[in-house]
Amino acid sequence: MRKVVFGGNWKMHGTWKQTEEYLQHFVNCPLPVNSEIILFVPFPYLSLMQKTLSGTQIRIGAQNMHSEDKGAFTGEVSADMLVDMGCTHVLIGHSERRSLFFEKGPFLNSKVKKALTKGLTPMYCIGETLAERESDKTVSVLQSQIREGLEGLSQDDIAKMYFAYEPVWAIGTGVNASEEDARSGIAVVREAIASMSSSSVSQSVPIVYGGSVKTGNIASYMAHKEVDGGLVGGASLKAEDFYLLIQAGMQGR
Ligand code: 13P
Repeated sequence: MRKVVFGGNWKMHGTWKQTEEYLQHFVNCPLPVNSEIILFVPFPYLSLMQKTLSGTQIRIGAQNMHSEDKGAFTGEVSADMLVDMGCTHVLIGHSERRSLFFEKGPFLNSKVKKALTKGLTPMYCIGETLAERESDKTVSVLQSQIREGLEGLSQDDIAKMYFAYEPVWAIGTGVNASEEDARSGIAVVREAIASMSSSSVSQSVPIVYGGSVKTGNIASYMAHKEVDGGLVGGASLKAEDFYLLIQAGMQGR
């Protein structure tokens, strides 16, 4: 049985006050015990998360990290710093990092390796753009993103990772992928992971779907056993909404 995972990716949203209110509400919600909930919050709120969430089942995630331990990298954050702040998970390769900040395969691969070395669980994000989809390149793009990200990793390391299939055209657009798009995309990703490790490793790692996930559609994705949960942007910004979404997703199981 694979883990069910719900990630809330706040992106660059929130204030200190909103984060306090969010956590006050969220920590009192009876979350399903058979799932893992990770809040990927902006760096400035990690200390608040650490203070409020210790001892709860809610995990703390960061949205990015650098691959080096330290040095002259103005504006960057290292894996050790994230561990200091109580992070257990980190997003790597989100499409916004790939497209807006020009992060490419080898750099992402070095980040994945560093995260694993430091005991952080990378949630490695992959997904095709609309242009790639329309030119029938979805499968080859997903395969090459997996190949680049996992290059040089041992099977044991790959077995520790999480994955998020997020078609770029479905992110923040309200145009969510069909259930079949999500299912077939995840199947391609799982096969690509198997080719870099083994079938048993690829069958064991959680792969979630992301892209305009809402309370009203999560159950239909999760009704497919290949979909191990969701990585949620906009619909994770209010504690009440995200909690309802998690409950709805678990009903899909
Ligand atoms: P939305 O849920 O807002 O489409 O964002 C998805 C996403 O990018 C999560 O990482």
